[in-house]
Amino acid sequence: MSTDNPAAFDWAALSYTEISENLAEGQRWSTWRSVDRLSRGPQPRPSWLVTSQAAIDTELGILKTGKEADVFLLERAVPGAESCLLAAKRYRSSEHRLFRRADSYTEGRRGRDSRENRAVRLKSGFGRQIEAARWAQAEFATLKLLWSAGVPVPYPVQVDGGEILMEFIAEGNAAAPRLAQCRPSVDQLRWLWPQLVEALIRFGRLQLAHGDLSPFNLLVRGLDGAEPELVVIDVPQVLDLVGNPNGAEFLHRDCRNVADWFVRKGLDVDADALFAEVVAAAW
Ligand SMILES: Nc1ncnc2c1ncn2[C@@H]1O[C@H](COP(=O)(O)OP(=O)(O)O)[C@@H](O)[C@H]1O
Ligand SMILES: [Mg+2]
Repeated sequence: MSTDNPAAFDWAALSYTEISENLAEGQRWSTWRSVDRLSRGPQPRPSWLVTSQAAIDTELGILKTGKEADVFLLERAVPGAESCLLAAKRYRSSEHRLFRRADSYTEGRRGRDSRENRAVRLKSGFGRQIEAARWAQAEFATLKLLWSAGVPVPYPVQVDGGEILMEFIAEGNAAAPRLAQCRPSVDQLRWLWPQLVEALIRFGRLQLAHGDLSPFNLLVRGLDGAEPELVVIDVPQVLDLVGNPNGAEFLHRDCRNVADWFVRKGLDVDADALFAEVVAAAW
């Protein structure tokens, strides 16, 4: 692109080909139009979401690198007209953790011995790519289900190969912090806890357990006010409470991870009581 500032560039005066020629590194045409309907988020779509065919995605930077995925900040915009910020979670394909963890989490979920499964076992480049796409698809499907059931998760925008685009959970003009990094007042803790209970009960009604719940997979926004909001993230390993023989055990661990944190911060809550409530919602 011939300018450092995309907003200053007169996109409107250019043809499709001219814009294509002017896309800079870190920019692409919005991939919204190239994914099929099932790979898009649930209806009704939030009004902030840019779905224009003319939108351009610009990578603004990396939010976090993880063991199995990296999360990037992306702007989807029709320059000069509308824009939104998205989090792009991209599964990397080589990590052993994916393979090791896969066993106990996906027990009872066995597929055909397809060319794909063999490729995954062989850990070929193709196999790793498929494995990344499977995790992205699994997480995206779960986000859709949770969103539609009223669980506070980022709105799932689309999935494409190993990349999920979702609502960027912001606090001011930065990413919302993880609960683990926050120092809420006791009043704020008292406000946050019922949100967590309600979210887990909704998981329970779907007969699901998060499977990796901790103060690191909860984002908080609005901590400068009296009514902060919790958002649950990181759900690729969500498991079936009924079908998975380890389901209850994972749920119990989830409950302990979060309840213990609240207790350490000074709120008198009980992991076993939370566990019992979620179990009651599931059966
Ligand atoms: N939708 C989002 N909005 C803002 N930040 C996010 C979002 N999704 C992820 N993040 C940030 O990226 C980090 C990693 O994402 P996560 O889904 O937990 O993947 P993993 O822990 O497997 O690397 C999170 O802890 C959070 O800081
Ligand atoms: Mg995480």
